Amino acid sequence: MVANDDQWGSKTQKSKKTWYLTTPIYYPSANLHIGHAYTTVAADALARFHRLYGDDVLFVTGTDEHGQKIAQKAAEANKEPKEFVDGIAGFIQDPLWKTLGISYDRFIRTTDSDHIEIVQHVFKQLMDRGDIYKGTYEGWYCLPDETFWTESKLVDGKCPDCGRPVERVRQESYFFAMGRYQQRMKEYILTHPDFIQPPSRRNEMLSFLDLGLEDLSISRTSLSWGIRVPGDPQHVIYVWFDALINYLTAAGYALANKKFEEVWPPNVQLVGKEIVRFHTIIWPIILMALDLPLPERVFGHGWLLIGDTKISKSRGNAVDPLELVEKYGVDAIRYYLLREVPFGADGNYTEESLRLRINVDLANDLGNLLSRTTAMINRFANGRIPPLTSPSRDIDRMLPNLAQEVYQGVEKAMHQLLISDAIQQIYRLIRAANKYIEDRSPWKLAKDAALRTELDTVLYNLAETLRIVSVLLSPFLIETPEKIRKQLGLTEPVRSYREAIFGQFQGGEKIERGEALFPRLENPKGTENPKSDGERLSPEQSAPATPKISQEAPESKSGSEETTQEIGIEEFQKIDLRVGTIRHADVVPSADRLLKLTVFDGHRERTIVSGIRAHYEAHELVGQQVILVANLKPVKLRGIMSEGMLLAGSQDGILSLITPSATLPEGARVK
Ligand code: MSP
Repeated sequence: MVANDDQWGSKTQKSKKTWYLTTPIYYPSANLHIGHAYTTVAADALARFHRLYGDDVLFVTGTDEHGQKIAQKAAEANKEPKEFVDGIAGFIQDPLWKTLGISYDRFIRTTDSDHIEIVQHVFKQLMDRGDIYKGTYEGWYCLPDETFWTESKLVDGKCPDCGRPVERVRQESYFFAMGRYQQRMKEYILTHPDFIQPPSRRNEMLSFLDLGLEDLSISRTSLSWGIRVPGDPQHVIYVWFDALINYLTAAGYALANKKFEEVWPPNVQLVGKEIVRFHTIIWPIILMALDLPLPERVFGHGWLLIGDTKISKSRGNAVDPLELVEKYGVDAIRYYLLREVPFGADGNYTEESLRLRINVDLANDLGNLLSRTTAMINRFANGRIPPLTSPSRDIDRMLPNLAQEVYQGVEKAMHQLLISDAIQQIYRLIRAANKYIEDRSPWKLAKDAALRTELDTVLYNLAETLRIVSVLLSPFLIETPEKIRKQLGLTEPVRSYREAIFGQFQGGEKIERGEALFPRLENPKGTENPKSDGERLSPEQSAPATPKISQEAPESKSGSEETTQEIGIEEFQKIDLRVGTIRHADVVPSADRLLKLTVFDGHRERTIVSGIRAHYEAHELVGQQVILVANLKPVKLRGIMSEGMLLAGSQDGILSLITPSATLPEGARVK
């Protein structure tokens, strides 16, 4: 089946323009932390989305290797600057970005020879046009930010950006005549509402321009680690002027081939909010002076914080992304970075919130959906995806319709750079599929041969939804989509976002069950009963005090995986198992997994709170015989004292209470 283009809002023809995306180039002054990974993973998701969307993508990231700060760090490490940056830039490429799956097309280093050439070429051009002149600079310099400040801009004598001490500088310098572009720059921002995003950053920049724009000192004589001013080698070019030009170098500026015309201007430039000013005032003015078009969008995202503090090496709170990947896997980290914080806002990093995302979103919602679906196809359809039938009930049309709506929502969100929103859309589909399993209870349909077609429809819908989820998740996660597809019997990787069209399975494909996508983590302390976005909680989460062996086994594990320790008969005899009859069953209002049961054990009625609500309607349990552990110490669950528990078997999302095959007197011992 092939959808028409209007239906899917996709493009029929690839535009000639290469979709050009950049991240800031990072200072290789120390190894990068999770804040840098945040920007780069976001850019990678955008690049992967656009490739799947059919664009030719140029995705550039790299390192900003010159300047006083790097020279100082190299001296501290007793190394030559080049030797020092080679080590860190190498590490950033591999293992850091390689491990995180960053699919850049070029890793640019400002020490690359083509970049040095282009910077000198631009410098000369601007000299020739009269936009660069020689003078004397007298003012202040913030070393950590590599930024010049005039006296009037300092706050309490310190850097207005970072609050750190500044040093007095007086030297001969080349200047970039930015002041004369002030009005033009302001008009450009006003007439191009998409140029600076989000809008709050745009307003900040307009206010900044209103304060007046001074010419910028763009060379230093007190330093040798940098690109020389052409024809005046005493001077090295200011590190920010050098660094911003990387975006021209990587696009092929001034090369004799046509590449530059196809690439220029950048479609999206991602930057942290602290460097929006460099990218929306200095950088566009360089381009204006060169008569080049300006970037379409510069997006200033927020910071990852720990408490109220930006994560940074100098603040001593850096978190190593590689350690996290080692502990939790690359997709868990990518998912967290992309999903947790709405792109644009500041967001807090905590390991607890990371673990929660893994347990709730990845292990529970996504992992269980795959494991339940493949288990049911195995059990009820001999391991083959049933053929597509046309559904006769409205409920069976819900997933196909929602899949289309979600596809369009994801596409729209990604074009607006709303990455977290795009993922939330995909989760609407995942959660709806989980609910659909409960609503349609395939294990009940399987009991009645007359309902075979309905059962096939349900299983087909679930397999197709998972296939679509594997397509939709492809820009964000790099291992999971393949794992999902392998279990669904698909061998080809996702090649186009348009594969997210409902109805691609033919029927008869052989599924191949595999391991749990994301093994559930033990709950960290202090995070019991987590809830976000109204998602379903794991049995352990909804009843944390419940002993493990019990009221519901963890859904994602298959029974055969459990390893158990041998016990002697005396130990088994310590467990007092009895037959009981359920007399009443009620839902527990604030707990969507729990039922409150009244069970008669031959002597008295006991209250037992059980996490089986997803599997049984309260009314269908009344009168049913069960096996209960009668000598279990009572525990309080959601404020209700639970006096014992029921035996149940569970595998792959299917749970069944254990019941005697013939009615027995209540209180009968089970041995
Ligand atoms: N070298 C300059 C950029 C030159 S671009 C022509 C620079 N480098 S940096 O190493 O300090 O990294 C800057 C970028 O890293 C930020 O703009 C931001 O994208 C990212 N981040 C660093 N710490 C961060 C957080 N705590 N949170 C989010 N992003 C962070 O500035």
